[in-house]
Amino acid sequence: MTHELNPIVYLNGEFIPLDKANISVLDRGFIFGDGVYEAIPTYAKKPFRVKHHLERLNNSLNAIQIKNPLSFTQWQQLIKQLIHKNNYLDQYIYLQITRGVAPRNHAFPHQESPTIFMMTSPLEKQSQEVIENGISVVSLPDNRWQNCQIKSISLLPNVLLQQQALDKGAKEAILIRDGLATEGSASNLFIVLDDCLITPPKGPLLLPGVTRDLIVEIAHEQAICIKEHSITETELMNAQEIWLTSSTKEILPVTRLNDKIISNGRPGRHWHKMIKTYHAYIQDL
Ligand code: PDD
Repeated sequence: MTHELNPIVYLNGEFIPLDKANISVLDRGFIFGDGVYEAIPTYAKKPFRVKHHLERLNNSLNAIQIKNPLSFTQWQQLIKQLIHKNNYLDQYIYLQITRGVAPRNHAFPHQESPTIFMMTSPLEKQSQEVIENGISVVSLPDNRWQNCQIKSISLLPNVLLQQQALDKGAKEAILIRDGLATEGSASNLFIVLDDCLITPPKGPLLLPGVTRDLIVEIAHEQAICIKEHSITETELMNAQEIWLTSSTKEILPVTRLNDKIISNGRPGRHWHKMIKTYHAYIQDL
């Protein structure tokens, strides 16, 4: 067990204190942003939906032609070890794989030795302010690439979009491409329209969120009306409720979009119902 300011991390086969974890400046993650990542929430020291995260990690690695350096069981064991080497009860595991260290050259190196890094941080609970009043968001043009299904560490467009939102006094940006809302800068999008949930279909324009998939699953199980289809900007503006979902933020109720008040400025009844069920799933872990 270590001090919270210097947690134990995993780097290339070793568990070491964060301040001892160093990588070469020639790592392709540093030079090119050439790598992929996952963020896995962990409740009462148990990883939530880890199988789904590891499957998506595998898909991201395949998409960028890095051979998964570890088996599913090896990943699970390392994650378990990391969780237990740190003090926090609820944590989120960040794991990243890059194409490793090589002389700077855009083309893949002949000899590949991926860098594997994992760290864990406390998982913050939703604040009372958010539960009572929801969050403000702005819509911004989605100027990212067309491989958003890859959980790439090259996040500069997302970083700039989220900062633009913060600079406008909002918490998140909802991204618009060709008149359609895709997702948030670090979250997936749901709206409620005519008492039916709608979320954009999976594809190259958005990340297939693990939280998104669980909400779709819950809706089917509980016979809640749900449709996976594109959301036009007009539908977004007329939504009864808007939610943004992610593994670290769970389900965020949006109550203000570009200065327009959504669902009377309070998280709506559909959100209340869904967040209760979502927490019940976590309790069942
Ligand atoms: N991001 N879309 C984007 C662009 C994201 O960055 C994320 C999550 C999601 C939601 O996916 P999931 O439900 O699997 O967390 C959707 C993580 C939390 C991050 O970058 O830290």
